[in-house]
Amino acid sequence: MSGVRWRSGLDRVLLSALGASPPPPDELRRYRGEPGSPGLYLSLLGHVFDVSKGQKHYGPGGGYHFFAGRDASRAFVSGDFTETGLTDDVSDLSPAEVVTLYDWLAFYQRDYKPVGRLVGRYYSDTGQPTEYLRHVEATLAEGLKLKAQAEAESKLFPSCNSEWSASAGGRVWCSTQSGGVHRNWVGVPRMLFSPGSASSRCVCVQSSDPLKLDNPNLREYEGCPPLAESCTIQSS
Ligand code: HEM
Repeated sequence: MSGVRWRSGLDRVLLSALGASPPPPDELRRYRGEPGSPGLYLSLLGHVFDVSKGQKHYGPGGGYHFFAGRDASRAFVSGDFTETGLTDDVSDLSPAEVVTLYDWLAFYQRDYKPVGRLVGRYYSDTGQPTEYLRHVEATLAEGLKLKAQAEAESKLFPSCNSEWSASAGGRVWCSTQSGGVHRNWVGVPRMLFSPGSASSRCVCVQSSDPLKLDNPNLREYEGCPPLAESCTIQSS
């Protein structure tokens, strides 16, 4: 029999042969869809999926065959498909990148059959989440918080429309749909600075609300009347 065993119960776990080699990632290596292989699996954040219905992507000759039979979580975000890049070590990913990684996990949970958990970096041999996974989950929580803040900010301060031409120079302006935020106010263009950063982006600010206009991170465009809906950009 193969070295792959299943723990009973809902939370099935991919286990190595009892007390023997090969270690679990090597067991998963056999599931690459080659002739004679027991199946076509991949792992993401320690969740193992049967991806045989995506044979054209993950099977031999498929464009994403390198994901088969392993956990290459980091490459789902980095796009680094070299041997070095195909690793389950995601410790250098930013909170936003970890959010993207969990979007991929949601994709596999929706489209493919989960078949177990991989014993190793993310799950212990009893199927318990490791310290490492707890850390990744904390980074995910941080990423979701930052994403929610960014979404709230983009509603409060939607981006401006902008154009540039060599003859006329630059122009920024607001409309009821600029920044992809549909609203019943137009707003006036302002530069919005992130605290501690020298760079800014153009946002539309609701002019009827003095509290919003007084935000200390906003600055008016030079030479543009404070309540104008459109500003030409002075080239420096
Ligand atoms: C971080 C970079 C990328 C990753 C991790 C990635 C990963 C994937 C994966 C896992 C699939 C299979 C999805 C499934 O199971 O249905 C897929 C499909 C696909 N990818 Fe990518 N991809 C990346 C970048 C790109 C880029 C840059 C392009 C195009 C220039 C691209 C084009 C496609 C296409 C066209 C499909 C669908 C193929 C089909 O349905 O026949 N991907 N990608």
